[in-house]
Amino acid sequence: MGDDTAHTLWHGRFEGGPSEALQALNDSLPFDQRMYAQDIAGSRAHVTMLAEVGLLTEIERDQILVALDTVEGEFDAGTIRFEPSDEDIHTAVERRVTELAPEAGGKIHTARSRNDQVATDLRLWTKRELGDLAGLVVRFQQTLLDQAVAAGDAHLPGYTHLQQAQSVSLAHHLLAHGWTLARDVDRLLATRERLDVSPLGAGALAGSSLPIDPVRTAELLGFAKPFDNSLDAVSDRDFVAESLFDLALLGVHLSRIGEELILWASAEFGFVTLDDGFSTGSSMMPQKKNPDIAELARGKAGRLVGHLTGFLTTLKGLPLTYNKDLQEDKEPLFDACDTIRLTLLALDGMVSTLTYNTDVMAAQADSPYSAATDLAEYLVRNGMPFRSAHAVVGEHVRHALEGQDSLENLVAGDDRLGPEAAALLRPGMSVRQRTSRGGGAPSATADQLDRFRSLLAALADRI
Ligand code: ARG
Repeated sequence: MGDDTAHTLWHGRFEGGPSEALQALNDSLPFDQRMYAQDIAGSRAHVTMLAEVGLLTEIERDQILVALDTVEGEFDAGTIRFEPSDEDIHTAVERRVTELAPEAGGKIHTARSRNDQVATDLRLWTKRELGDLAGLVVRFQQTLLDQAVAAGDAHLPGYTHLQQAQSVSLAHHLLAHGWTLARDVDRLLATRERLDVSPLGAGALAGSSLPIDPVRTAELLGFAKPFDNSLDAVSDRDFVAESLFDLALLGVHLSRIGEELILWASAEFGFVTLDDGFSTGSSMMPQKKNPDIAELARGKAGRLVGHLTGFLTTLKGLPLTYNKDLQEDKEPLFDACDTIRLTLLALDGMVSTLTYNTDVMAAQADSPYSAATDLAEYLVRNGMPFRSAHAVVGEHVRHALEGQDSLENLVAGDDRLGPEAAALLRPGMSVRQRTSRGGGAPSATADQLDRFRSLLAALADRI
């Protein structure tokens, strides 16, 4: 304790140095150093602006810019050396710049605070990251699309209450997840658009008495616009909460896909066979092939929801403006992004290497009972009110289940239904019936595939 007293940013005001316990709790460098490129970009814009408004000479500006290049090179190469006084990434970069350019470096923090600096860095980081993650989701959607195309006319049971309901084409089922993920991409990009505001120039909380130009730094950093209110600029972390929500919901969607794959890969379903490269074995039971990736996709959702609720709780009740509580924004955000990235990549690999056991799917889908609604709709086409039709078919189903006769025979022998209706119970017939827009028949799916293709192209363009 105390050796590095002279190096803290506030050493003028303090007689003693920070205690070890304070440093251990307070320092964010271990996790915020991953924003070094954004921190350096922010400093480049800041000093460029300072020179333009006359607060730095061109020589001073250039000395700082050269030092910033060196520091960035050190970070890139992993040769940067930290000092115990480097509390966070902002402190570390400023300390190193000042070592390299002692005179000019002392001016880098003119009219700037770590409060506007950290908000700027994290917005820049998040802006890039959300675009990257949206790209990975689109890639996974492309996998689902490719598989939907490859599935051709294969069909499987559709479920409600996890009970077989009506059969649908496999392509239809795969695309359902594709459409869900399209909303995730849209949300990530909308969040990215809303966060595109530069907080630089807000200072600690109230702006500056010096003639700085926040419009210019916003422009230099490629932000869509500068902040309007300095108090809001340094205390707003809505973009973190929104990102955490987007990622949590995306994680929830991936967990639902994971759960389905777990079911489908079970011996009881047997709908899919997992590729060896994307499944694991058991240390004890030689016969096992486990869907770990799908289970982790399911499990990681808990952690993502936790980051969202945890961070909202951190924000709740915080008075304006910056409070150190806000330093709790980075770890959940970084972890949520890393978690989604890993999960998407593995799940994409798992899905793209699946073998679909379409015979098993079809055998389940072609249970005559799953065509019961088609029989009722047959009666409706002949003028019977749906409620009565439901009762007529329901009675046949009950009798068939009681063992009176096969459903097909019962239907064929009922003159309101007859052989034409009974033909609907033959394998592969039911799935072809639901041709309404967005429905599960292969013919309706073809149309949907086209619309999904256009949507995917539009989303990819927005990234
Ligand atoms: N490491 C801090 C954070 O992540 C940077 C801002 C520090 N500001 C301050 N007034 N101590 O929030």
